Amino acid sequence: MRIAIIGAGIIGAAVADALAVRGAEVFMYDMRAPGKGASQASAGVLCPYIEATSGSPLLALGARSLSMWDDWVAAVLARSSRSFHYARTGTLEVAFGDAGGSHLQQSAAWLAAEGVAHEWLDRAALKDFEPQASALATSGLYIAGHAHVDVPALVAALMSAARQHGATCETPTEIIHIEQKSDVVHVRVGDPASSRPLEVDHVVIAAGSWSRRVRVAGAPVFPVRPVRGQLLHLAWTDAALPRRSVWGPRCYTVPWPDGTVLVGATVEDVGFDERSTVDGVRGLMDAVSELLPAAARASLRSVRVGLRPATADQLPLLGPLKDHPRITLAAGHYRNGILLAPYTADVVTRMILDKERDPLLALTRPDRTSLSNIPPG
Ligand code: GLY
Repeated sequence: MRIAIIGAGIIGAAVADALAVRGAEVFMYDMRAPGKGASQASAGVLCPYIEATSGSPLLALGARSLSMWDDWVAAVLARSSRSFHYARTGTLEVAFGDAGGSHLQQSAAWLAAEGVAHEWLDRAALKDFEPQASALATSGLYIAGHAHVDVPALVAALMSAARQHGATCETPTEIIHIEQKSDVVHVRVGDPASSRPLEVDHVVIAAGSWSRRVRVAGAPVFPVRPVRGQLLHLAWTDAALPRRSVWGPRCYTVPWPDGTVLVGATVEDVGFDERSTVDGVRGLMDAVSELLPAAARASLRSVRVGLRPATADQLPLLGPLKDHPRITLAAGHYRNGILLAPYTADVVTRMILDKERDPLLALTRPDRTSLSNIPPG
């Protein structure tokens, strides 16, 4: 089967790898190099029990995908010539003051009801557990099942595995036009009048916020909008690295084996503006210095910026387009594209190659009515 994938970020790369390894002929397109869109805004923390709320549809998707990560990582590492760092070392959320403490206690009660392993830490226990956390922090909540992954290296490993199985990737590409003609789909890159179409059996649109710029004949513009995230990459200098991903009220951090720490992330509704700003950087610097005081002595290595693809209800658009069954949308993963990558790759592959439909996809139908109020832009 011939399949075109529009977008070579984490979702496009994961889908390409999964389809190519099953024998599909995969053609990828992106307007820039792989992994340079939303993936840039991610520090790679896989933490559905922080990102989602109790009983939410996002939690069902996130928990399911988190359970797939260990096996998925082993399989990708086995078939790729590239390696990447992945650690299931948990997350530590810390609170300041009474209000923060009671919020963490509510989270602990919810996790207990869900049967999720966790540990609530009082001030003294927190000091032993994470010596780098601020002495002003009053309590902590450790969730051992959370993990983190080096996103750029993961995207490179997925692209390498997909290419080893014959996938091609054309970059940079401009506007893409797609048209389903009964049981074949035409893909045209650039000027639709002058380019010859690629004929494929199926198209997967996984271009994050840029999915709204993909033109599908007879379909409305996809309701995805960009939300900017700025991240700091710090080189830790004269203190021990934090032992795991630490979350505070205004930022989160991820330690890396090379002695650096990623600090995330701003959440800014500024359209397709991928610049870093003084305000964004200053806010993150203040927040991380409050959370991990040694950060004030770290050096600033770089600022990363990415655009998360948001939807009105913060759930992805995942499934075939209404009236265009050979065109599948896999976009709008907002803050959880990395977490949801193995689930997305698996359900898209089974949907296209095996005609199987995961029941959770009822939550992510691209034409659900809750999306009608997305602002244009
Ligand atoms: N996944 C966290 C963020 O998007 O900032």
